[in-house]
Amino acid sequence: MTKINLLSHKISFFSTQPYDQTFFEKYNADFGFELEFFDIQLNEQTVTLVDNKAIVCVFVNDVVNAAVIKKLAEKEVKIIALRCAGFNNVDLEAAKKHGIQVCRVPAYSPEAVAEHAMAMILTLNRKTHKAYNRVREQNFSLHGLLGFDLHGKTIGIIGTGNIGKAFSKIAKGFGSTVVAYDVVKDSGMEADGVQYVALDTLIKKSDIISLHCPLNDETRHLINKKTLAQMKTNVMIINTSRGALINTSDVIKGLKSGKVGYLGIDVYEQEEKLFFRDLSEDIIQDDKIQRLMSFPNVLVTAHQAFFTNEALTQIALITLSNVKELALNGQTKDQLTQLV
Ligand code: NAI
Repeated sequence: MTKINLLSHKISFFSTQPYDQTFFEKYNADFGFELEFFDIQLNEQTVTLVDNKAIVCVFVNDVVNAAVIKKLAEKEVKIIALRCAGFNNVDLEAAKKHGIQVCRVPAYSPEAVAEHAMAMILTLNRKTHKAYNRVREQNFSLHGLLGFDLHGKTIGIIGTGNIGKAFSKIAKGFGSTVVAYDVVKDSGMEADGVQYVALDTLIKKSDIISLHCPLNDETRHLINKKTLAQMKTNVMIINTSRGALINTSDVIKGLKSGKVGYLGIDVYEQEEKLFFRDLSEDIIQDDKIQRLMSFPNVLVTAHQAFFTNEALTQIALITLSNVKELALNGQTKDQLTQLV
């Protein structure tokens, strides 16, 4: 492995929010990198902002395709550090071809995401958001707030990695029966009483389906017309993973027909045009998100599942450690370019 002497180079962050700057500046005190923050997304136009030989740090909706990577390579960029777990937005083959190392933060707080998935379930089920507003207007009626017990219900988890496992523990704490599907079974989950089943069995049996697998060619539009047709009527679907796991048009049809009883999404297929910004004064052109938000049984949060103090601390510490290790030794355990 070639050594890369990049310790003295600056790290250029894209898609940053004020909290990113706060956490990275705080923890960089122990690392001493020069940090530069851009609030805009990295893409084929904004790549021009990157200085020669800089280290580039990106998030979930930055565009790191072959064209962007080629331009980064022309600027002699050697490291792309993702400050997130999912890496579907990065062309790893192109990075490898140009000798650019890519690393990520594989797990910063799986509990943060798992707890948010359960928060979405509880909100959709027990309608605390409606109760909050209602009581403030002195309306103490319970009409329309009827929920169901999670105890005894079947929760299907698709993807039992770090987040799926953390979510399973929470679901079991509620007394739910947990069934799971993953391309790799986890013996610890089985020892905890979780039954692995085929995907179509999970889809047919579950009262609630929670998605915790990555987005890839196999999982894109996993929730579609065909899988929706197999689900129980009134099923609850929770997606805190990646938007394109769900075919949005199909799920809208499922909501209109009553097949889907509840939908909780922290991620959305076209989220890069919407999330992480205040668009309250804008006319939103995306009719699908507008339709989704018009349903009373749909809860949309704007990719906030990871957003806890503990997670932001780990994201900053692990990202900076990864960059340091790559700069000093040319490798880190969280390297993605080794996958291709
Ligand atoms: P992980 O890598 O620990 O687990 C993913 C699991 O999915 C693995 O067990 C893997 O075998 C499984 N899997 C892969 N292909 C599959 C397939 N075709 N069908 C079923 N299972 C499959 O990842 P982790 O940390 O649990 O994260 C899961 C996803 O959550 C990430 O890929 C990311 O997209 C998303 N995420 C969302 C966040 C948010 O704030 N909403 C924050 C962090 C991650």
